Amino acid sequence: MNLFTRMLLAVVLMLPAATKADEGMWLPILLKQLNEADMQANGLKLSADDIYNINASSLKDAVGIFGGGCTFEVISPQGLILTNHHCGYGVIQSHSSVENDILSNGFWAMNKKEELTNPSLTVTFIVRMEDVTEKVLAGIGSDVSEAERAGIIQQRAQELANEAVAGTHYGASVRPFYYGNEYYLFVTETFRDVRLVGAPPSSIGKFGGETDNWKWPRHNADFSLFRVYSGPDGKPAPYSEENIPLKPRHYFPISLKGANENDFTMVYGFPGSTQEYLTSHGVDMIMNSQDPLRIGLRDQRLKVMKRYMASSDKIRIQYASKYARVANGYKKWKGEIRGLKRDSALKKKRAFEVEFMSRVNANPTWKKKYGDLLSQFEALYQQFSSVNYERFYFIESGYSGIEAVSMANRFTKLDKALELKEEEGIQKEVEALRSQIPGIFKDYHAPIDREVSMALLESTREDLSMNQLPDIFEHIRKKYKNDIGRFVEAMFTKSVVTDAGRMEAFLAKPSLKKLKKDPAIMLNTSLRANYFARVQPTYGQMDAQLDSLYRIYMQAQREVFSEKTFYPDANFTLRVTYGKVQGMEPKDGVNYLHYTTLEGVMAKEDPNNSEFYIPEKLKTLYHAKDFGKYGIDGVMPVCFIASNHTSGGNSGSPVINGEGHLIGLNFDRNWEGTMSDINYDVKQCRNISVDLRYVLFIIDKFADAGYLIEEMKLVE
Ligand code: ARG
Ligand code: GLU
Repeated sequence: MNLFTRMLLAVVLMLPAATKADEGMWLPILLKQLNEADMQANGLKLSADDIYNINASSLKDAVGIFGGGCTFEVISPQGLILTNHHCGYGVIQSHSSVENDILSNGFWAMNKKEELTNPSLTVTFIVRMEDVTEKVLAGIGSDVSEAERAGIIQQRAQELANEAVAGTHYGASVRPFYYGNEYYLFVTETFRDVRLVGAPPSSIGKFGGETDNWKWPRHNADFSLFRVYSGPDGKPAPYSEENIPLKPRHYFPISLKGANENDFTMVYGFPGSTQEYLTSHGVDMIMNSQDPLRIGLRDQRLKVMKRYMASSDKIRIQYASKYARVANGYKKWKGEIRGLKRDSALKKKRAFEVEFMSRVNANPTWKKKYGDLLSQFEALYQQFSSVNYERFYFIESGYSGIEAVSMANRFTKLDKALELKEEEGIQKEVEALRSQIPGIFKDYHAPIDREVSMALLESTREDLSMNQLPDIFEHIRKKYKNDIGRFVEAMFTKSVVTDAGRMEAFLAKPSLKKLKKDPAIMLNTSLRANYFARVQPTYGQMDAQLDSLYRIYMQAQREVFSEKTFYPDANFTLRVTYGKVQGMEPKDGVNYLHYTTLEGVMAKEDPNNSEFYIPEKLKTLYHAKDFGKYGIDGVMPVCFIASNHTSGGNSGSPVINGEGHLIGLNFDRNWEGTMSDINYDVKQCRNISVDLRYVLFIIDKFADAGYLIEEMKLVE
């Protein structure tokens, strides 16, 4: 072993024996057993029971899932909830128009009657969770095939879920943890009447825009307020005037003491997905193939959108949400690659694998069970990388990149019905599509899609080999003299999916022949046929193989490194992560403080850049130092960072102090630390939160919605 390998090993072996603050996303029901002592040693004044309890109210009753992928917390006895501005963004945008642009101007319901309803928005609480590993895995031996195993598990999971909710209005699901080594049941309660109460203007909620996204220091108040309503009986109900504000089992008091350096903090929420236990081959594939591909393809879309958005207010509003979504992943993966490289993540993984193998080889039982695991991974990843590349090509270009393709896909059922000449089915589909027209075209600008289609189809032809290309390229060769430009022109001047008028006209007289010849429909059909015939089967099969290898590898890691406590990867289930309010050293000679202030907001002002525009009223309040009880010593705190291990999905999560009071609203991570989904390093990784005092200041002083403060409980 050379000196270098030994040094790397030394790093790996410094892994602590027990759990510690910062790294880890822990299951609330296991806190008592795994984390309580450590959390209390780090400053938690509560017990594990105060955080999660099914017999008495606990913090978990004030936390839930907002919409499709964010977290929220309850902050008043009248069902008032807090989440991020970027989580409410789609909803806020849906109420916006050029005439009434609440995205730009903000929105404040001055009483309950003024709140705005959102038919498709839901929030979900966790009623309880339970370890059902034994019930799910009982009797499944190593002789059972993977397919059989999956079948048995699925059936048992379904039975357990059904049993858990019988006779109630709850929902339930059983989810795998540690790559299928453990299973947990979640019983949930979903409310369907959720109304928009308040949102700051984007110039405050999204101040710094895409430039500041994923970065520290940060200066925005990324929050929005909603109110959950129940039926008169307290149970979930669809919107109705009869509904009443939810009476929560718990709501968070808000501390005005703020986030001071080294304070204990925990974040309670729903991190979406992490991959902390990948092999070196997996990390290699992500940082050297998958991320660069996705970044490159998104870059092309973003450039086009940006140019058009700068040219008109209408387009800016139409594409605001789409742009933010595409840009967010794009930038995150850029940070991820950079962080993995800088932190020598691959070398660390390899050193870990060397140590793993040396322990395995020293133990005959392990050697027999786990001896060739890593070489199996290596062989599998060699093939998997290329199919993974093709899969992401399809996802980033055809499937989500070209809007006309998704629009064309809406015609699949009509196409079928026309083929089968089912009059009733045809009528039904025509009606369905007709009703979608306003929704589809409200936020669609065909020239953007046209340029994006052009760019993505050109790239596809360049990057994929002949045998990987969908047959539409053959069609383009034959029918359009191999000129993608001419094909795209046809798509945007003739296709029935790229123009509302042509769509209307087609639906008035639907014809199978026309549909089959439609360029956008043909493109969609060809991309999907290619994907489902060539890519998906191989991908699915190899992915299942990887899954089962990872299941064994996970079990092996826990067995072989028994001195270490492993936390399960994020899977959008409720987790607790804890750490400290803490600055960091992003690079040699540079220190990040743990907080920012309103002064920093003012310093970033740029009248020539809409991302850094500051509303007059905020400037006035700043100059008058009119911070109410939310400032300290003439300074208005804005954001802070802490060493809580969070991920996407933790947006909107409560940041809680040792007393169980709310001090922050989680909304991001730092650029240096976005690699934490794969490689957490406390020296580089921080979560970014808005200081709750800044949130209150904006509500009270900026928006004059002080009546909302009155329903909260402030701890001074
Ligand atoms: N990066 C944060 C997250 O992953 C915030 C995204 C929204 N903000 C933005 N400027 N696009 O979701
Ligand atoms: N902004 C992220 C979200 O939407 C949270 C930040 C992160 O990924 O850590 O969930």
